[in-house]
Amino acid sequence: MKVSFKELGLVNTREMFAKAVKGGYAIPAFNFNNMEQLQAIVQASAETKSPVILQVSKGARNYANQTLLRYMAQGAVEYAKELGWKKPQIVLHLDHGDSFETCKSCVDFGFSSVMIDGSSLPYDENVKLTRKVVNYAHKFDVTVEAELGVLAGVEDEVSSAVSHYTKPEEVIDFVKKTKCDSLAISIGTSHGAYKFTPEQCTRDPQTGRLVPPPLAFDVLKAIEKKLPGFPIVLHGSSSVPQEYVDMCNQFGGNLPNAVGIPEEQLRKAAKSAVCKINIDSDSRLAMTGAVRRHLAENPSHFDPRQYLKPAREEMKKMYIHKIENVLGSKNKAR
Ligand code: G3H
Ligand code: 13P
Ligand code: ZN
Repeated sequence: MKVSFKELGLVNTREMFAKAVKGGYAIPAFNFNNMEQLQAIVQASAETKSPVILQVSKGARNYANQTLLRYMAQGAVEYAKELGWKKPQIVLHLDHGDSFETCKSCVDFGFSSVMIDGSSLPYDENVKLTRKVVNYAHKFDVTVEAELGVLAGVEDEVSSAVSHYTKPEEVIDFVKKTKCDSLAISIGTSHGAYKFTPEQCTRDPQTGRLVPPPLAFDVLKAIEKKLPGFPIVLHGSSSVPQEYVDMCNQFGGNLPNAVGIPEEQLRKAAKSAVCKINIDSDSRLAMTGAVRRHLAENPSHFDPRQYLKPAREEMKKMYIHKIENVLGSKNKAR
């Protein structure tokens, strides 16, 4: 049986993005795979009154079951209200949809937004597939994110050895032909906790930490010039906070040279036409660091609630930090 996202209390991205582009901030798009991540995201968004996008990847669907995740998102709306957020602005979004059929099943199932990721296809095929998804999704007022350009990095279902920046000369034609609602671009971000090799970085002489190269803001600017006011999306935008990397490593982990996108670059991006910033790895790091620390310090604990509670608190702290200090979305959904 088909269900509209509207019946579930969810919203699509249209109005949210228009306001974000105008207001010079970005909406957080947080991936979730389990209850603790979802609780932390909802608590952080409700407390800060930030609009939020809950993202479900193919990996998440395989791990947790798509039906369960959808009902969890529906529960998230009710939970947000219970927390005192009168009009929650929550999007349920398919992350990296890989076929028309997957996107269609999400639209039919109550998602309010889908991504069709045709970025690895030849240009014309990407246009054709994206257009097909848009045609279907728009019948139900579901918004569609598309992608042009290829991100580097390897992460489960999403992999590519090299990055190919989005070509600004293609974006007008692509958006016109596909009628997509937002466009994910490649300007040097990538998925996962190893966004750059040490060879691509310099070292901070004081801390010895890796300093990544800057994002291609010239490409972003050129795209903005071609598509004034059009919503742009950044994938692979975790900062890989060194405190969490250290926490993992200090308590038995092994994450050498993990490095992300410096926050000041994301802050700069959020002020531009970039209106959706995807964060997954930072949540994984916060959760894993906190679990490792807790178990190392409390070897007798075996009740998952004992170690998942501090993990949830650490994730919530991280989400609030992103909302307040990086993306600027606090109080934008009052
Ligand atoms: O885009 C990649 C996201 O971080 C999701 O990753 O496929 O491992 O769930 P995943
Ligand atoms: P990170 O791996 O940088 O968190 O990126 C997540 C993402 O882009 C999900 O689509
Ligand atoms: Zn992504």
